Amino acid sequence: MKIVTILGARPQFIKAGSISREILKHKNISETIVHTGQHYDANMSDIFFDEMKIPKPDYFLGIGGKSHGAMTGQMIEKIEEVVLKEQPDWVLVYGDTNSTLAGAIVASKLHIKLAHIEAGLRSFNTKMPEEINRILTDRVSQVLFCPTDTAMQNLMDEGYSNLDCKTVKSGDVMQDGAMFYRDLSVKPDFEIDDKYILSTIHRAENTDDLSRLKSIVDSLNEINKERQVVVPLHPRTAKILESNNINIDFMIIDPVGYLQMVWLIDNCELVMTDSGGLQKEAFFFEKPCITLRDETEWVELIDNRFNVLVGADRVKILDAYKSYEFNKEFNVDLYGGGMASKKIIAELLIS
Ligand code: UD1
Ligand code: UDP
Repeated sequence: MKIVTILGARPQFIKAGSISREILKHKNISETIVHTGQHYDANMSDIFFDEMKIPKPDYFLGIGGKSHGAMTGQMIEKIEEVVLKEQPDWVLVYGDTNSTLAGAIVASKLHIKLAHIEAGLRSFNTKMPEEINRILTDRVSQVLFCPTDTAMQNLMDEGYSNLDCKTVKSGDVMQDGAMFYRDLSVKPDFEIDDKYILSTIHRAENTDDLSRLKSIVDSLNEINKERQVVVPLHPRTAKILESNNINIDFMIIDPVGYLQMVWLIDNCELVMTDSGGLQKEAFFFEKPCITLRDETEWVELIDNRFNVLVGADRVKILDAYKSYEFNKEFNVDLYGGGMASKKIIAELLIS
């Protein structure tokens, strides 16, 4: 069985790493990895392949830092060339980025079977680029690997039981990675308080709306007076903060590799984020999470009070920080317990 994997953004390197580890256990499967170049800084890309021992991409397309249309369009053109040359049995795509959508369009037009990992997730906010990417990718996939019961239900609600495709509850590949790398984590090389808050901000809905961004930064500045806030800053956010001269009092660091990130999650008191992946990792490492968004795809975290949604509203953010009563009984299986990669590869072998 021959697989072409399409990836390009930081969370996809982490997710694909778990699947590649599983593929390497099977002598009858070969994987060709295509890196679109969507993320290209060394600390947004190379560091993951180097540190996590993920197989290096076979193709690097170098298409990053562009508008949605230019990026997705150029990716489609280049991925098509690779897929035509490689003639795989499967194209594998992850999550909801522009690289995901480009891979999905190429595979479906070339009639190559498409598997979508992290299928069925919905925020029901079609203003988010991610929501558009995931709806379109799901619709043309032959096998849809859902991380959660909610994701399966979303697909049923959209009529997927009537479509010519297979929906499979696989669990979440990010849990596989978190469990694998937990013991390999590395303490970052800077001074940090004992009880710090780990925060990340990069989603377009926050960075591209200056009033939201300022409100979040202002809230973190306020919280930082009481407890240190540490932010590994996404380059998108860094550029916008700098060009708008927004005042920051908390600790900013460059993006870190996954091994340091796992250490930062494992040792913090609280996570505050708009990241999809980090919301789940907070749960895997038994940390409460305040989510700086108006909705989330990971609703089971909210329903169980491991996570609370506050959007970008200063009052809500500070109230949640001061008084939200999180559930600290983390011992529930919401994401498949680290078996997702195994299930996904077993399923591809029989589909
Ligand atoms: C993308 C995904 C988002 C995901 C995120 C993970 C889309 C539409 N969005 O958002 O769902 O949560 O990746 O991190 O696919 N930049 C750099 N260096 C880099 C990468 C980006 O400087 O290595 C800057 C560039 O100015 C670029 C901007 O960040 O234009 C945005 O990058 P882009 O890949 O378009 O979107 P992300 O915000 O990273
Ligand atoms: N991450 C990392 N270094 C950082 C920030 C995040 O390794 O400096 C990891 C994080 O632990 C998670 C993934 O990147 O595994 C999440 O990616 P991101 O937040 O960029 O995207 P999203 O999950 O929101 O799509």
